[in-house]
Amino acid sequence: MDIINNILILTGSPHKHGTSSLLADEFEHGAVRSGNSVKRFDTAFLNINCCMGCGACRNNSNFCTKKDDFDDIKNFLLNADVVVFVTPIYYFSMSAQLKMTIDRFHSISKELQKNPKKSLLIMTAASPDKSVANALILHYKTMIKYLGWEDVGILLAKDSPTREKIEQSNYPFQARKLGEILA
Ligand SMILES: Cc1cc2nc3c(=O)[nH]c(=O)nc-3n(C[C@H](O)[C@H](O)[C@H](O)COP(=O)(O)O)c2cc1C
Repeated sequence: MDIINNILILTGSPHKHGTSSLLADEFEHGAVRSGNSVKRFDTAFLNINCCMGCGACRNNSNFCTKKDDFDDIKNFLLNADVVVFVTPIYYFSMSAQLKMTIDRFHSISKELQKNPKKSLLIMTAASPDKSVANALILHYKTMIKYLGWEDVGILLAKDSPTREKIEQSNYPFQARKLGEILA
């Protein structure tokens, strides 16, 4: 079977078996079943440094002074057709682990803007109020507009504080379906 899309999943939770990791698993299963190639990085478990804003990447085209696990992500990021961000909501935004990784996009922003991509945002939150995700959705939409990417799906699993709770919900099914339709 021909590969349909190269999909990159970036997760942000420090919980290996938490709520957002379950949705990432389900999305991945759905996407693989539809013939996509999927690479996933659980950023909370990687050695990824903060961007220090040193400007070296601007002076030395794309050369980031940090040598860490972002180098691996970078290769998949540049070649991905679809990028999926999966995060628990932390103080009405994404987790710091995922944000640190996204800040490192800075060194390759121009390349990313030259390669149109599709993008999705999958979030989990304890709050039952859907407005909990408003700030993050606006952030995500602003970011992908800057990158010239196209949003193809947003899933908010609200009222999902624990693994037990989310397992009883319809959200894992919805995440799998999001993966399956990327064909
Ligand atoms: C530091 C921190 C901040 C959080 N902030 C919010 C928040 O602003 N709104 C909310 O609904 N839940 C918040 N939560 C709850 C998590 O989003 C929720 O428990 C989520 O399911 C955790 O996902 P995980 O199991 O994938 O880590 C917060 C949790 C932590 C640890």
